Amino acid sequence: MAWPDAVERAVLDALPGAFWLTDEALPGARPAAALTHRWDVAQALAAEGVAVQWADYPADFVADGSQDRVVLRVPKEKALALHWLDCAGRWLKPGGELVLVGRKSEGAPSLIKRVRGAWDRPGTVTNHGPWRVARFVRGPRVEALGDGDYARIRPVAERHGVALLSKPGVFAWKGVDAGTEALLALLERRGLAPRGAWADLGCGSGLLAAWLAARGADSVLATDSSAAALMATGATLRPWFDRVQLAPSDAGAGLPGGHAGILSNPPFHRGFETDRDLTDAFVAAARAMLAPDGEAWFVVNAFVPVPDAAAAHFGVCQLVEDDKRYRIYRLAEPR
Ligand SMILES: C[S@@+](CC[C@H](N)C(=O)[O-])C[C@H]1O[C@@H](n2cnc3c(N)ncnc32)[C@H](O)[C@@H]1O
Repeated sequence: MAWPDAVERAVLDALPGAFWLTDEALPGARPAAALTHRWDVAQALAAEGVAVQWADYPADFVADGSQDRVVLRVPKEKALALHWLDCAGRWLKPGGELVLVGRKSEGAPSLIKRVRGAWDRPGTVTNHGPWRVARFVRGPRVEALGDGDYARIRPVAERHGVALLSKPGVFAWKGVDAGTEALLALLERRGLAPRGAWADLGCGSGLLAAWLAARGADSVLATDSSAAALMATGATLRPWFDRVQLAPSDAGAGLPGGHAGILSNPPFHRGFETDRDLTDAFVAAARAMLAPDGEAWFVVNAFVPVPDAAAAHFGVCQLVEDDKRYRIYRLAEPR
């Protein structure tokens, strides 16, 4: 992602010896330790030699009052931002420093305001165009910002006899994505009966994976880059625990092949940034994971160029449904 030089310098200057809470990669980052939600960010940090934890909620691996500085890059999910700020409040020593970095459009100003109130500290804020870099010294009093319910996995919907469980921090966690809904309705109408090994690429809360398991797939591999997503998917898939496998991945890279079928509602963002290469990466992973007679079903926003991505990887790319907002493609004859 593009950081203006001044912001990048401020973050890189603050990081040595600090604990880094981030869902965005920063090449050259050398914090003492880091926590991220995103598998691809965890891999990038590990490659820089950083002791990085890929986890949704960090349990107790950082002791309260143990940190001199926490640097927090505002993440996309507001509930996660509040949860991470509460972690920072607990982990910092009195007199320790929180450095919060984010853009105006990402909600940085309102988070800064909330820290000011909860920590009873004015802090200092530097503006770099839309970016804000705020620094707060932890005083003796720190009130929680989140509702304390971040980790709770709860029922959120039911579709086609499948109960969907989810939690804050997962993509569109409060319900069912309309694209996913459209794909399942189409597969139900066609009477698709999944047999053999299937996979769900970018599983979110796990509805597509659960539908596959409920409709008789012999095994289901569910993958996502988000630690929160895999927590939720694990809960959603519990009734079929003996037939499912959960695996973190960056766009399915490195996962086993030989699958009879794949369902995917792929992302087109990496963190805050639109990333057109993600469509290519998901389609390429589907090709690598399918058996020669396998098929993949992709549901995407109408503007996502699946046919361009499929041209190099599949003999067949059939537009099966186009409701203007969503398009559903069937890809076959992997090559
Ligand atoms: C559009 S959502 C679909 C989620 C879910 N399948 C559903 O139908 O609601 C895309 C999912 O892809 C995941 N994702 C984003 N970037 C990814 C990446 N690089 N590798 C794997 N999964 C990714 C997101 O965490 C999100 O859960």
